Amino acid sequence: MTDSNRVLIFDTTLRDGEQSPGATMTHDEKLEIAELLDDMGVDIIEAGFPIASEGDFAAVSEIAKRSKNAVICGLARAQLPDIDRCMEAVKHAAQPRIHTFIGTSPLHRAIPNLTMDEMADRIHQTVTHARNICDNVQWSPMDATRTEWDYLCRVIEIAIKAGATTINIPDTVGYTAPRESADLIRRLIETVPGADDVVFATHCHNDLGMATANSLAAVEAGARQIECTINGLGERAGNTALEEVVMAMKVRHDIMPFDTGIDTKKIMHISRRVATVSGFQVQPNKAIVGKNAFAHESGIHQDGMLKNKETFEIMRPEDVGLAGTSLPLGKHSGRAALRAKLKDLGTEVGDNQLKDIFVRFKDLADRKKEVFDDDILALVSATTEGADAIQLVNLRVTCGTVPAEAEIELEIDGKDQQATSEGDGPVDATFKAIRVLHPNKARLQLYQVNAVTEGTDAQATVSVRLEEDGMIATGQSAHTDTVVASALAYIQALNRLLVRRAKVGPGADKREISYKQH
Ligand code: KIV
Ligand code: ZN
Repeated sequence: MTDSNRVLIFDTTLRDGEQSPGATMTHDEKLEIAELLDDMGVDIIEAGFPIASEGDFAAVSEIAKRSKNAVICGLARAQLPDIDRCMEAVKHAAQPRIHTFIGTSPLHRAIPNLTMDEMADRIHQTVTHARNICDNVQWSPMDATRTEWDYLCRVIEIAIKAGATTINIPDTVGYTAPRESADLIRRLIETVPGADDVVFATHCHNDLGMATANSLAAVEAGARQIECTINGLGERAGNTALEEVVMAMKVRHDIMPFDTGIDTKKIMHISRRVATVSGFQVQPNKAIVGKNAFAHESGIHQDGMLKNKETFEIMRPEDVGLAGTSLPLGKHSGRAALRAKLKDLGTEVGDNQLKDIFVRFKDLADRKKEVFDDDILALVSATTEGADAIQLVNLRVTCGTVPAEAEIELEIDGKDQQATSEGDGPVDATFKAIRVLHPNKARLQLYQVNAVTEGTDAQATVSVRLEEDGMIATGQSAHTDTVVASALAYIQALNRLLVRRAKVGPGADKREISYKQH
């Protein structure tokens, strides 16, 4: 790596990111995020806009005091009181920076109603003042990508002459495109006198979804500072995402041979903390940090991943601080992934049982968005024993504000039989209907329902304990429908009683027999 390939990472999560409507962070949260940014190797932390509020001032001052390696930067408009206030806050840092800006495009010049010459004078005056009180001064012509070329060159030259050490080129409204972004930076570096003595920075917004591409194109053209935020937080569609540019340069180092000082293993942790404290959840399919970025559900992909991770992953999840790839089981998953999951869960099953579990798994996955580990374990339990005398064929239950009624179809010793019964609620009606078809004296000693997974589509595990003439048998079943799980658990307890009855001879003990079935 040569110095000319080193790209500085300027993180503005705490300034531009916090400007996202609703993303306000508390003082302590800002300190925590700043510490994480510093630890992960961010070169410059834009900690806030000190004149904007007492809270911002306090946060920037405290972050500056606590900073370790990073330069701590504060934002200031092109006004002397802003710049002084900014310096008051960042001065506590070992390496302070003042970032001052003014909108230079025609639309932005119209707001303070300044002529081109008046604005040029203002830039000269404010950058000179900033540089007199701080050695490290960044200047930004806001809305640079919509500023007239000649005027942009003119004001950048003024800022450099006045002492700016970094010139940031903001695409404030996310208007540019990669080739244009590159051309702009290249031409500015070639044209503006003194350009070689400063660092050119790129600051892109994501209104057209091109922020990351625009930032990288700017780097290829000579920019050596990328301004970005964690998770791409920021006004409107956000800013360039730190994790995206850093990982892009790492993974495609062959065509983008640039280096940063970022410890990429810390990316996932800081991404989650920023999501939590800002209240801006990361979309599941977000590059690098989304929940699905390293998850593969389809059978073909899971099979490929199990054979060779590189088939569907261009970077290792460990590189961004994840424990590993996730192969969530869902309706697109195949047998290979199911077998691998069972192995992960410490369960080895034979081919026949795997077949059985797979059929049940597909049926479950059709009814449930995500199949969790506990769901799989419940299916394993459900397939561990052989055929039963009583089997559930169909169950239909009517309940609600009308009296509960269950219509049940059972196969008993190979014969289909049907019955209907009313009851005190759907489960009672179901158990009564079973007793119509299979009369017995068994007493229900225990009926217990547990949700084994989260959500309203969770599988319920129902446990039933029956007692008959001192013999006890339990049944257990898991299903997304609690009444079906109850029927299956009850039927299995009955099956066990039948087995016990057949086996009981003189001297046979009467220990509990447990049996689990889907
Ligand atoms: O987007 C922008 O132009 C900014 C400036 C303050 C640099 O955030
Ligand atoms: Zn911005």
